[in-house]
Amino acid sequence: MALKFAAGGALAGVAAYGLYSLNQPKKDQLKMIISGGPGSGKGTQCDLLVNKYGVKHISTGDALRHHVKTGTDLGREAKAYMERGDLVPDSLVIGICKAEMETKEAKQNGWLLDGMPRTKAQCDALDTMGLVPNLFLRLDVPNEVMMDRACGRRQDPVTRQIYHVKYKKPPTQEIEARLVIRSDDTVEKMTNRIKQYHKNTTAVSGSYSDKLVALDGNRAPTDVFPAVCAAVDSALRLEDCTESASKTARCGGPPLSAAQLSRLGTPRSLSAVA
Ligand code: AP5
Repeated sequence: MALKFAAGGALAGVAAYGLYSLNQPKKDQLKMIISGGPGSGKGTQCDLLVNKYGVKHISTGDALRHHVKTGTDLGREAKAYMERGDLVPDSLVIGICKAEMETKEAKQNGWLLDGMPRTKAQCDALDTMGLVPNLFLRLDVPNEVMMDRACGRRQDPVTRQIYHVKYKKPPTQEIEARLVIRSDDTVEKMTNRIKQYHKNTTAVSGSYSDKLVALDGNRAPTDVFPAVCAAVDSALRLEDCTESASKTARCGGPPLSAAQLSRLGTPRSLSAVA
């Protein structure tokens, strides 16, 4: 009898803990920034990451395009900058980011910030908001490859799926016929977007030097993704291990060293950034 009570009590305890832990924010949540020049493959990797890790994807570029399309005040202000391939004012993107971060989804599932921060002021704003990533991942791709990728990009307005005229062709002629080109995916605008990227990237990467993993993005998406996942898994293990020494046993080995990540994806030192 006593045994039965003990077993029943233990089961109730486990169930109660299960309910308790379901209601607690996950400690090992992914909080990640993905960076890289225009056309470096951020959006492509984000789709794969959302699928695998279930995080909330926050793309400032997508959000801005939505504002422009729906004709909001913010969209009207941002439009001219985007049309030139210039960065929009910091205050606009910071406001967008703040609103997205306050959603239940971002709080519960973790976040994947794509396309922000792009200036030192944006880094400082994230810091002030207490938004500290456990990983800052940068995709390094040569300028001419970024140009080729962006100028060949096409989007399906129905499904929002991204294609490429050479690297990812649409599956049917019907889809091909309805594809659209993003208005800033021209040689002239890409030249400015690439310039803006290089102007700011050293300062931005420098703000996250302790969380930075730079990967070679100049290979097929399916080759980039395993290296991205290795960096994510390592960052999550690192977060878990540093939270409390008592959890070290759960970590399943130490996080990957820079040298190990390097064999996966050619990280580069900050001094090598263009
Ligand atoms: P945003 O929308 O963020 O554009 P971006 O940074 O220029 O990046 P892209 O969306 O062009 O490229 P991507 O890296 O996501 O590449 P993708 O995976 O699609 O910003 C647009 C504008 O908004 C800015 O210019 C600025 O005005 C404004 N803005 C946004 N955020 C801002 C901020 N924080 N501050 C100020 N202003 C801001 O891939 C591209 C193509 O290549 C696709 O066709 C894809 O199929 C193909 N591809 C992808 N990976 C590979 C691969 N590995 N091999 C071959 N092809 C590939």
